Amino acid sequence: MVVTEETRMRGGRSLAEALEDDLAQWSARTGIAVETWALPEGDVPPRTSRAVLLVFHEALSNVQRHSGAGTVSIAVTMSSSGLRMTISDDGVGFDPPVTGRGITAMRTAFAELGGSLTVTTAFGAGTTVTGAVPA
Ligand SMILES: Nc1ncnc2c1ncn2[C@@H]1O[C@H](COP(=O)(O)OP(=O)(O)O)[C@@H](O)[C@H]1O
Ligand SMILES: [Mg+2]
Repeated sequence: MVVTEETRMRGGRSLAEALEDDLAQWSARTGIAVETWALPEGDVPPRTSRAVLLVFHEALSNVQRHSGAGTVSIAVTMSSSGLRMTISDDGVGFDPPVTGRGITAMRTAFAELGGSLTVTTAFGAGTTVTGAVPA
């Protein structure tokens, strides 16, 4: 993995390293398994990294508080078109369009970067948070 100095975050970590650490700690604390399908290779702009970490924080807090999930699957990829991420749980789901402060904050974090974020869910079908930020 090639990560230049400018895109490292506080503590000298890349976004991928920060996510790996945070996910391992969260899984140990909650007992919910994490399946990591992809983490970004190479450089991610610092503002995008901060938005992704904010979204992960809120999405994982929702998984822990509301979902009853046993497993959460995550993928974060960076390409020439930008960053894409998915956080998917196998929990109870809910009946959209429920929206509280957390979901609004996640949407705002990506919208501020010209991106978008969608929550897909249904009772009994788990919940998936999908987002993209253009390069
Ligand atoms: N992963 C999830 N599994 C089940 N329900 C969820 C999940 N994420 C969100 N919800 C539902 O959507 C509501 C709104 O979420 P949010 O905006 O984060 O507000 P809050 O977490 O403060 O209630 C939650 O109260 C919950 O009912
Ligand atoms: Mg919440």
